[in-house]
Amino acid sequence: MSRPINFCSGPAALPLPVLERIQAELPDFQGSGVSVMEHSHRDRLIVRLFEETEAQLKTLLGVGDTYRVLFLPGGATLQFSQVPMNLLNPGDTAAYVTTGAWSQKAMKEAQKYASPVEVASAIDTNFTTMPHPDSWQIPEASKYLHICTNETIHGVEWFGSLAGVELPVVADMSSHLLSRSMPIQEFDLIYAGAQKNLGTAGVTIVLVKTELLGECQSTTPSLMDYRQQIASDSMVNTPPVYPVWVLSLVLQWLNSIGGVDAVEALNRKKAASLYQVIDDSAFYHNPVALDCRSLMNIPFVLADANLDGRFVEQSIKEGLLNLKGHRSVGGMRASIYNAITQTEVDTLIAFMREFERTAA
Ligand SMILES: Cc1ncc(COP(=O)(O)O)c(C=O)c1O
Repeated sequence: MSRPINFCSGPAALPLPVLERIQAELPDFQGSGVSVMEHSHRDRLIVRLFEETEAQLKTLLGVGDTYRVLFLPGGATLQFSQVPMNLLNPGDTAAYVTTGAWSQKAMKEAQKYASPVEVASAIDTNFTTMPHPDSWQIPEASKYLHICTNETIHGVEWFGSLAGVELPVVADMSSHLLSRSMPIQEFDLIYAGAQKNLGTAGVTIVLVKTELLGECQSTTPSLMDYRQQIASDSMVNTPPVYPVWVLSLVLQWLNSIGGVDAVEALNRKKAASLYQVIDDSAFYHNPVALDCRSLMNIPFVLADANLDGRFVEQSIKEGLLNLKGHRSVGGMRASIYNAITQTEVDTLIAFMREFERTAA
């Protein structure tokens, strides 16, 4: 049976071999006779699953013991609060770079717990550019700099260097962590919901340099205290075991296809082929500046917005799902995370060409 192709921005397509492993191994986790969802999280098998998944992630990201990985509930959205609650006291400031809708949400949430300042914004270009670090006005008292390095809705990605930033850097990498090799050492805290590139909703990955952490705000719930989570290996309460297992299978799959460098080569090729079709046509348009076009989320508009409905309807009929763009941007968006193959992108390209040919 041929499966439809899922271009959803998240929850997103999982690699088929991962889905097949889930199906085959679900009833009996590692020969224990019960599923991964039915084990106590204190069980040796589950403790080992968490340890191994942390080790796998650190290896793939190329970091050592100065960092810990936490597996937390609440999605990336909870990190918008958890970061300031742990790193700021009321009245403290932090520098926020606004690269799109998710950056805006992060700062708005931080305002509840401290006094963040926006040090740069690409709002003037409708979030089609990345603000250059030379223009960032960072107040001296800032405790950290926050940036969203891939804006899922606007399709802009950060390819610059943050090596010159002299304060801890916190990044929301929800929609591109492990899509390409990145200078992870430039970041002191990275967070990412798993349901785009790394697994299924329910677990958020937090990679944190332990030296960054001090006392959190006194009203912080224990569950949201990074140091308590570190001390209990992400098990302050019953953790999201099933999503961590799926994450571990996705990481194994990533290793099986050659790791981050191999997937980066595939991702660059996939994105280049799709951008090429858009740029070569007067019918499709992507507004994002060339130096910050996302490899993962590719928004595009049709020359005639009246054709949007037909494009979506026909694409669904052809088994191409979730191409409708975010309501705030309009048009279309193809999310081509690690699990999407070149062949699947080629199918989309063929559909786009045919639609253009017949719509005129
Ligand atoms: C970049 C980015 N940050 C944060 C979020 C929010 O994630 P969650 O739904 O896991 O809270 C999303 C979700 O789409 C996202 O793309």
